[in-house]
Amino acid sequence: MNVSSVVANPLDVKTDLLCHIINPESNDALELKSATYDIKSIVDQCIGDLDGRLGKVVTTTTHLEDTPRLLFAGSGSNITPDTIRDIAGVISKRARELKVKQFAIVCPDTKGHHNVVSQIVEGAMLALYDFDDYKIEKADPKPDLTIICKQDVEEAVRMAKLTAEGVIFTRNIANQPPNLCPPAKLVEFADAISQNEKVKCTVLSGSDLTEGGFGGISAVGQGSANTPRLIVLEYNGGDGPPVALVGKAVTFDTGGISLKPGERMDEMKFDKCGGCAVLGTIKAISEIGLPINVVGLIPAVENMPGGQSYRPGDIIRLYGGKTAEILNTDAEGRLILADAIAYAEEQFSPRCIIDLATLTGASIIALGCDTAGMLSDNDDLASDVYESGIRTAENVWRLPLNSDYMEMIKSKVADIRNLGLGKAAGTIVAAAFLKSAVKSTPWLHLDIAGTAWMQSPSKKRSYNVPGATGFGVRLLLDYLRNI
Ligand code: BES
Ligand code: MN
Ligand code: ZN
Repeated sequence: MNVSSVVANPLDVKTDLLCHIINPESNDALELKSATYDIKSIVDQCIGDLDGRLGKVVTTTTHLEDTPRLLFAGSGSNITPDTIRDIAGVISKRARELKVKQFAIVCPDTKGHHNVVSQIVEGAMLALYDFDDYKIEKADPKPDLTIICKQDVEEAVRMAKLTAEGVIFTRNIANQPPNLCPPAKLVEFADAISQNEKVKCTVLSGSDLTEGGFGGISAVGQGSANTPRLIVLEYNGGDGPPVALVGKAVTFDTGGISLKPGERMDEMKFDKCGGCAVLGTIKAISEIGLPINVVGLIPAVENMPGGQSYRPGDIIRLYGGKTAEILNTDAEGRLILADAIAYAEEQFSPRCIIDLATLTGASIIALGCDTAGMLSDNDDLASDVYESGIRTAENVWRLPLNSDYMEMIKSKVADIRNLGLGKAAGTIVAAAFLKSAVKSTPWLHLDIAGTAWMQSPSKKRSYNVPGATGFGVRLLLDYLRNI
């Protein structure tokens, strides 16, 4: 989607559809009323009808040659960090419905121009995303967007575009069906990112994994003909130890021998969303050119039942040497992540490790589908990521993880077990397993099982369309930009 910005008076811009965001308490769109006496009454009437109500949109035609159509969108009076993003999405969808080739949004006259501009660009681009790879009839074309602002906001537009493109890249991969997106396919997407000269891609497979000590990845992957990979993407943009981002990529999670029930099992194609978020984030930082180092690790497997599958009762050896008793083959994410996290710490001595995973259904029970679970052994890291969540409206909420929970993964026959006690504290128990893979590096885990794709309890946001949301990319980019 084409997005640009211009410093101008709104009525001096030639556009198919001129859009204003109207706050009931302010005098936005004033220039429309004063500049042209002819349209004052139409504008007054539209704004009156709108009453500033959030989500409401009024459009009108005019006789002005350069501005044939006007659109007013209400913001309500309680403007949150997500309001502008949401309204920009609503406006963009209306612009597409009206089949205009181009539309312009007037940046509301607030203090943080750059933030507002980012939110407009993100909202517009993400709302008009559609996944039509496998349809003959493609979605309607996306109109071009011009942002009209009193200040130069080109840099903010550039950043927001690259951010949204990172999210879109993530959605596109995450939405791929499991038959066409085995672990080897994820390698192709990672390879594409490494076209950027600052990104290096290494892939471990076959005996690299089985003989390299990656007992978790090997065990989970052994039941599938689609063999596992560990994808490593190194972004070199600055000095010092890297931030390690680890993302669960189970290309399809049947549960394995502990088979899942059939209902909604198709959604387990989204069990690769953590890994996809890491791919989109690395792509975006490499294009933005952030002056830091980041390494992305993506353990990619398919969890299938079969003659070669791992079983409940098995004892496996994870990367780093700890043994794990398998009690349920559907608790597979923690096994592949434990390998990748331990490898990240050993290989890269990172300044911190952040992992993202659609790890437990229990996180949906605890937090629903609009907030990700956050667990960490480091308060500073947790508070930074929390703040990024507020700014990006990719909200996270911290759950406790003290030594009591570490007790719950002790095994009688191995060092640890991959299941807790019954259903108690499912999200925390899974995180406790991950924590046991970390030696001394600050670590933070995000359970994105509820937020990674649109599910029935998910809050409707104009910029989250059906399918994968790309959750985590905007959050991580905000965090990485601010360190
Ligand atoms: N990928 C699932 C978690 C999941 C379930 C994500 C539903 C999103 C929606 C994970 O591998 C899993 O199966 N977890 C089990 C763990 C249990 C066996 C301890 C779960 O949540 O039921
Ligand atoms: Mn599972
Ligand atoms: Zn899973």
